[in-house]
Amino acid sequence: MARITASVYTSHVPAIGAAIDLGKTQEDYWKPLFAGYDFSKQWMKDNKPDVIFLVYNDHATAFSLDLIPTFAIGTAAEYQPADEGWGPRPVPKVIGHPELASHIAQSVIQQDFDLTIVNKMEVDHGLTVPLSLMCGQPEAWPCPVIPFAVNVVQYPVPSGQRCYNLGKAIRKAVESFDEDLNVHIWGTGGMSHQLQGARAGLINREWDNAWLDKLINDPEAAAATPHIDYVREAGSEGIELVMWLIARGAMADVAGGPAPKLAHRFYHVPASNTAVGHVILENS
Ligand code: DHB
Ligand code: FE
Repeated sequence: MARITASVYTSHVPAIGAAIDLGKTQEDYWKPLFAGYDFSKQWMKDNKPDVIFLVYNDHATAFSLDLIPTFAIGTAAEYQPADEGWGPRPVPKVIGHPELASHIAQSVIQQDFDLTIVNKMEVDHGLTVPLSLMCGQPEAWPCPVIPFAVNVVQYPVPSGQRCYNLGKAIRKAVESFDEDLNVHIWGTGGMSHQLQGARAGLINREWDNAWLDKLINDPEAAAATPHIDYVREAGSEGIELVMWLIARGAMADVAGGPAPKLAHRFYHVPASNTAVGHVILENS
């Protein structure tokens, strides 16, 4: 049986990827941010998964405004890093896990969540920056990755509650896969940020940290956060946080198991226009 043993939560910001790729991580501006991930890079080595189920959002890169799936699961054998305007990032290609991904698609669709099946796509900073933050600059990513893209760019976007419930269905799907696999689930994006309009540059440290407390200790309350609260309190792009609830909904305590262990928590302001949050939870 495959098992979800841990969940990882982290922001993504294109400038973080550029700082890594251009060798700027030890510059004064970036050093405190990357220091927050030193623990995490070691933790990845000590707790190497067989597969990462990586919940992220595409930023009109693979999916243009022509076609906007709410939830899309990558079933391909591999994914190339996308060119977002400055050429593709110099990072390894992402190796998929078509067998587990197809199984999850079958199971989750039968649990009444409509997923779009993606057999070919490129992955943007939403997926590659979290991998870089957690794994550094390896020749190859440490394991196969199943990309799971959520629409948080073009309205209407899914509610936090629906994302949380979807996480529960993903957990059941993983646990009904025959092979013994150690699976990590990642929720990425957020925390507070707004990239455009009158409130561009908005950061809300207090709200972010209160939401992190709920995510860790009272996920039902985090899941009940109304859509308007994200936008009002965490800015228009703060809505990316609903993706963290998919990972949280897949943890054991949500299905009646023991509370997860908090392995790491980090918060840093700012990285570009974004408040960076990062949490690692382990199932016991
Ligand atoms: C920034 C943050 C994002 O989440 C994103 O997708 C693009 C840019 C930023 O802070 O610059
Ligand atoms: Fe983003």
